[in-house]
Amino acid sequence: MSVPGQFIGQNTTPDILRSAIEFIDLYFQHIGLNGTNEHLQRVKCIEESISNIGWYDLSHDELVFGAKSAWRNAARCIGRQQWNTLEVFDRRDISSTTEMFEAICKHLKFAANNGQIRSAMTVFPARRKGQSDFRVWNSQLIRYAGYSTEEGAVIGDPANVEFTKICQSLGWKGKRGMFDVLPLVLSANGNDPELFEIPSDLALQVPISHPTFDWFSELGLKWYAVPAVSDMLFECGGLQFPAAPFNGWYMVTEIGTRDFCDTQRYNMLETVAKRMNLDTTDNLSFWKDKALLETTLAVNHSFQAAGVTIWNHHTASDSFIKHFEQEQKIRGGCPADWVWIVPPLSGSATKVFHQEMVNYHLSPSLDYQVSAAESHEWQDANMQIQVNSRRFTFKQLVTFIICAQYLTMKALVKRDRVSILFGTETGTSEKFALKLAEFCRNLFYVEVTSMEHYDARRIHREHILLIITSTFGNGNPPENAKNFARQLSLLAKSYKDGTNDIKESFSNVRFAVFGLGSRAYQTYCKFAHDVHQHLTEIGAYSIQKVGEGDEMCKQAESFQIWAQEVVKTICATSGKDDKTKLLKSLNGMIKYPEWNPKEYRIVKSHHAEPNLIKSLSIIHQKKMTPYRLLSKEELQSAKSSRSTLLIRLESCEETRLSYVPGDHIIVFPSNDNTQVNKIIRKITKLDSIDDVIEIEQIDAGLNWKKCNRLPPCSVRTALTHFIDISAPPTQELLACFATITSDAAEKEILQRLSNEFNLYKETLKALGDPLVSDILNIFTNITLSAQLIFTQFPIIKPRYYSISSCPLAYKSEVHLTVTIQEHFHINGLKNNEQIGKRRFGLCSGWFRQMKKGNIVPVAIKRSEEFHMPLNSSSPVILIGAGAGIAPFRGFWQSEQKARMLGEKCQSTFTLFFGCRHPDIDYIYKDELLALLLSGVLDSVHVAFSQKDNGRKRHVQRELREQSLTVYKKLIEKGGHVYVCGGTNMARGVRQTLLDILQIHGRMSTKKAEEILQWLKDENRYHEDIFGVSR
Ligand SMILES: Cc1cc2nc3c(=O)[nH]c(=O)nc-3n(C[C@H](O)[C@H](O)[C@H](O)COP(=O)(O)OP(=O)(O)OC[C@H]3O[C@@H](n4cnc5c(N)ncnc54)[C@H](O)[C@@H]3O)c2cc1C
Ligand SMILES: Cc1cc2nc3c(=O)[nH]c(=O)nc-3n(C[C@H](O)[C@H](O)[C@H](O)COP(=O)(O)O)c2cc1C
Repeated sequence: MSVPGQFIGQNTTPDILRSAIEFIDLYFQHIGLNGTNEHLQRVKCIEESISNIGWYDLSHDELVFGAKSAWRNAARCIGRQQWNTLEVFDRRDISSTTEMFEAICKHLKFAANNGQIRSAMTVFPARRKGQSDFRVWNSQLIRYAGYSTEEGAVIGDPANVEFTKICQSLGWKGKRGMFDVLPLVLSANGNDPELFEIPSDLALQVPISHPTFDWFSELGLKWYAVPAVSDMLFECGGLQFPAAPFNGWYMVTEIGTRDFCDTQRYNMLETVAKRMNLDTTDNLSFWKDKALLETTLAVNHSFQAAGVTIWNHHTASDSFIKHFEQEQKIRGGCPADWVWIVPPLSGSATKVFHQEMVNYHLSPSLDYQVSAAESHEWQDANMQIQVNSRRFTFKQLVTFIICAQYLTMKALVKRDRVSILFGTETGTSEKFALKLAEFCRNLFYVEVTSMEHYDARRIHREHILLIITSTFGNGNPPENAKNFARQLSLLAKSYKDGTNDIKESFSNVRFAVFGLGSRAYQTYCKFAHDVHQHLTEIGAYSIQKVGEGDEMCKQAESFQIWAQEVVKTICATSGKDDKTKLLKSLNGMIKYPEWNPKEYRIVKSHHAEPNLIKSLSIIHQKKMTPYRLLSKEELQSAKSSRSTLLIRLESCEETRLSYVPGDHIIVFPSNDNTQVNKIIRKITKLDSIDDVIEIEQIDAGLNWKKCNRLPPCSVRTALTHFIDISAPPTQELLACFATITSDAAEKEILQRLSNEFNLYKETLKALGDPLVSDILNIFTNITLSAQLIFTQFPIIKPRYYSISSCPLAYKSEVHLTVTIQEHFHINGLKNNEQIGKRRFGLCSGWFRQMKKGNIVPVAIKRSEEFHMPLNSSSPVILIGAGAGIAPFRGFWQSEQKARMLGEKCQSTFTLFFGCRHPDIDYIYKDELLALLLSGVLDSVHVAFSQKDNGRKRHVQRELREQSLTVYKKLIEKGGHVYVCGGTNMARGVRQTLLDILQIHGRMSTKKAEEILQWLKDENRYHEDIFGVSR
């Protein structure tokens, strides 16, 4: 059925589907289950329902969230900071006007609450195809009648003259008083409307008197307590609810300034002014202003005296500004209609007057709709004539125009949706994604999702898709992106093969990809490029070439530059060319946002100190297992100035790590106590650093919400186990410091350091890479708080180690070969003399001082591409330097065990190993000799970099000397090469292998490159690269 004269018409099926999914995404994001199975299941269910019956239903919780959001999005309402407290009465079950009336009575009773007004919304059935609407005809649930007299005057409220006539046509007999409460006019399911008198005890009213003008009460004014708008349409997820009365509470100017004093309303201004003995003949006496003020004052006084909630415009304005600022932070904007928000009295004396506002439409929403009288199709023909003959009154015409303007504006400013997807292993991409989201929110709807929770098959639903992802382990996707990578690659393949079963086109999806990586790897940002290519293959439209950020060089800066370009491109193609606003937001990308300590507070927790393993598992979203230190053995000789430890860990519980040789162990280290105490000494205003606390942050509704970044714990625990204080502070942290230092000069310097990358780098270098504690010693006016530490300090990143054992040989143990990293603070290395303070790398330093039995939280990272060959007869060439020998120990232990068990194993290992000197760091020498004797190793070639009068030899040199053997094993006998160690060594070895291929295979450089790539593709050229140290 078409609904005549409808401004907000019936949604079409595609409209409903799109809006439904947008809303459901919003809802699941709100409840923190975005991307979960539950979310995907719900979307599927809605899609099916809409496709089968053109319709779906919202769950109760979805409806409640939708109603609250509609209030939150109501651009004309100044009282929205309470949006989250709205009580929602879900009455979609009713079928008659009597039930409607009962529900409204309940609503009014709840809202009035003996004067302590509570905000509420009652939602009646949604508009459905083939059925007629449920409507409340009144513009507000409680309104006063307006009776026109023959002389052309009005008794009562002139705003309601037309509606009073409708009530009279329906048989209502008004008392022709100034304040007669109109009956409710309700229609259900298309039937003609019925009248219901509101019980007098439900229409709470307040007689108006003045605190000093005794005569004021003689005016006989009164007003009702509950302002409940009842003629607007509530739109949510593509569904429309034409009857959804809602109320808040009054702001005093609405009654005192407008209802009583507007000339087209009760028009009391002159009466009041005259009773005040003001000269009403001369504007310059400001009689209007004075009378307005006193009438408003009288209303405020009367409501307060009667114990009925009322707001003054100054408080309302302050509270709205707070809400507005919160919304800017949380949602990147707050739609607001300045004309409506600024109060009619003393406008410029309120903060909202001076606030720039942007008005746009967000869904869910409360929208204007054509009045019930206009749209109703009467069954009683007489009534049709009586009521509809009054169709186009001036007021209605004005309403029409406002509606039309509103809808045009709605179309113009409807924000594009931007989806930001991140793939991350160690959290950087997520951080970048959140940063980008924060700034995009100024201009778009933004949704940030981890690839882990994203189904690649729903990409066609996106408008703008921005992907930020790292590459991990030789060109592979990071852990949380593996599933997404598989799905996307299958999707792309199906498009290439023409076997895709997705009907929707991807051509409307505009996308851009940014890759995080390290140039240390041959496969620099490979996964990001793969994603870009696959998206292009399925027909999505690339708006920008792939951005790349090298972790060794200005990664954050590269990201910012890319992000700026992308945002500019999106704006240009979305017709958003408001340059000022855009530039403002993009500059914000470079500058870190200010940290406001007032938004955070400490709350003592009733929890005990958390379980370390559980807490780390939650923080890092990775299941961790506790292992304990079984033994620690120095592998370098006593002559060595350095240290490499064989660390043996054993499982503490029944649950053991499941791994194979070649896998990595992820270690979650703790901070050194000395550093922890240095930071603790800098914290001020804290009762005890050993009390278990939680941090709360104020939200948009001015409610305090728990920050879940860290579990409830003491400051000491946080600083010991969770927070990274072992590195120089990031630019982001310096930006926070800048906001809280009490010294202007410090502020300026910290601001510059946080905003200028080169200055930051140079300063860190000059200060000898200071730790956070060093910085706090330099900038002494920074007030360090637990709130800042818990919410802004970085989280300790886990460290990877190549496992040096085989589970067949050591059932409940895992071995690590750890080189102790050390550096010298202050002056670094000078003339090869180590001066300054000795400091150790966080994790290796932690192992160094660890005692037997200490707990080590660990997890496993699979390295499929570094496992031993499946064909055990293939020759194996192992190349490593220093701790790069680590994974090979697992290989040969596996081989030894297999031989012991009599399994048919013919792998012959050839080892190329690099170290400094035979008497210093030839680690595992005895083990290697034994392996040679037992035949597990067929040869060992060691390169000593310091042996021959300073003439350096590296593994590459040994490889060259054995080049023919290497070539034959690799190419002619189908062998495997395993390379492990730092990036420089891996690069050198790769080049040497290319040379060997060229020489013995008599081929060009290009061909050699191709062969090496082929070996890689065949899973015969394996690299395990430790990355780059600082
Ligand atoms: C896949 C993979 C496998 C690995 N396998 C092994 C392995 O088997 N064995 C092994 O030993 N390592 C291995 N590593 C390296 C290991 O993960 C760690 O990076 C290494 O142990 C250093 O960690 P750390 O916490 O001790 O040092 P960090 O605290 O991370 O410091 C890194 C470097 O910076 C220096 N540094 C730290 N702070 C400062 C400062 N303020 N000023 C100047 N310099 C500073 C440190 O001395 C160190 O050299 C592997 C890495 C990867 C990615
Ligand atoms: C074990 C390991 C393997 C890596 N492999 C690659 C790689 O193959 N290609 C690349 O470009 N970067 C590689 N990197 C660098 C990461 O991509 C880089 O550190 C990135 O900033 C991490 O971002 P994330 O925290 O979002 O995961 C690797 C880093 C580590 C520690």
